[in-house]
Amino acid sequence: MKKRLFSGIQPTGEVHIGNYLGAIKNWVSLLDPYDCIFSIVDYHAITVPQDPKSMPKQILHVATVNIAAGLDPQRCTLFVQSQVCEHTELAWIFHTITPMGHLERMTQFKDKAKQHRENVNAGLFSYPILQAADIMLYKAEAVPVGEDQVQHIELSREIARKFNARYGNIFPEPQELLSTAPRIMGLDAKNKMSKSLNNYISLIESPEDIWKKLSVAVTDENRKRRSDPGDPDKCNIYHLHKHFSSPEEIDWSAHGCRTAGIGCLDCKRCLWKNIVKELTPIREKAMALFENQNYVIEVLQKGAERCQEMARQTMQEVKEAIGLQLTPQPVKTKV
Ligand code: TYM
Repeated sequence: MKKRLFSGIQPTGEVHIGNYLGAIKNWVSLLDPYDCIFSIVDYHAITVPQDPKSMPKQILHVATVNIAAGLDPQRCTLFVQSQVCEHTELAWIFHTITPMGHLERMTQFKDKAKQHRENVNAGLFSYPILQAADIMLYKAEAVPVGEDQVQHIELSREIARKFNARYGNIFPEPQELLSTAPRIMGLDAKNKMSKSLNNYISLIESPEDIWKKLSVAVTDENRKRRSDPGDPDKCNIYHLHKHFSSPEEIDWSAHGCRTAGIGCLDCKRCLWKNIVKELTPIREKAMALFENQNYVIEVLQKGAERCQEMARQTMQEVKEAIGLQLTPQPVKTKV
């Protein structure tokens, strides 16, 4: 029996190379060793305002790009979170054992509360509880994520421990699996690459658009002129080379930067060529799938059916453990 793995991605905006290097590429490498379940987490997405009209499109878009990036539906289960109602049911139960103080410590909540001051809702606050329910509903042991999610997985472990201690051993304690690129910085070189900050390269962007973004991306800010030597360790372009370029090109970039042998644009051109090489097959596959969205809908439906069955079984176990299952009583006959 393979161990089970769960991970999720929000259907908000474009899938970018931070998602790809931090999570999706790792997911693809784990398809065979694990029983993999991936979810488009639309209930998480609505903790910040979304346009209801574009949500269905967004969900399909993110599912399509993930399939194009390598989530082969023959080798994993892909589904939309809201199609399995037990996610919110289990989340409610977990609400009753999660201390408020633990949620208050979550850095992502603090950041998002700052970003969305006008809408600091309860869902945003208890977001990590729903995440714990996502994982635990399938008793997943491995959770491949980027670094920004590690605190949420730690909380999931605490919730599993608390539940097991109170009601009996039902849930394994999930472990995060980090990729070799757990935190990709944005093209501004200041913030993590993120959909909301518009500092990203999308997985399906055209080569021309990628160059437009890359050519103005921030490098080592101390290197003011072409003749100044730079420090590659302080340059986000150099760090991106490590994920897209050959060892020789990575050395060429570092040495050329330190000696001012190459300019930042030379370095970017080489990175651009390698990014385009890696993303072109993904883009082409996505374009073909955009022409065949019924296939993607079918994949998601099949995925939901499998997950509904597993989720139903877990909830039955959970309800029995908590004492929420009424068992039929023998009929009393009048004498
Ligand atoms: P989301 O949609 O923000 O991101 C999806 C995945 O991409 C990773 N990631 C990054 N990795 C490296 N560098 C970056 N700049 C970068 N940006 C994003 C994220 O760490 C994530 O792995 N809460 C989750 C979704 C979720 C989930 C779950 C994950 C809901 N339930 C259960 C695992 C298990 C989120 O918002 O991911």
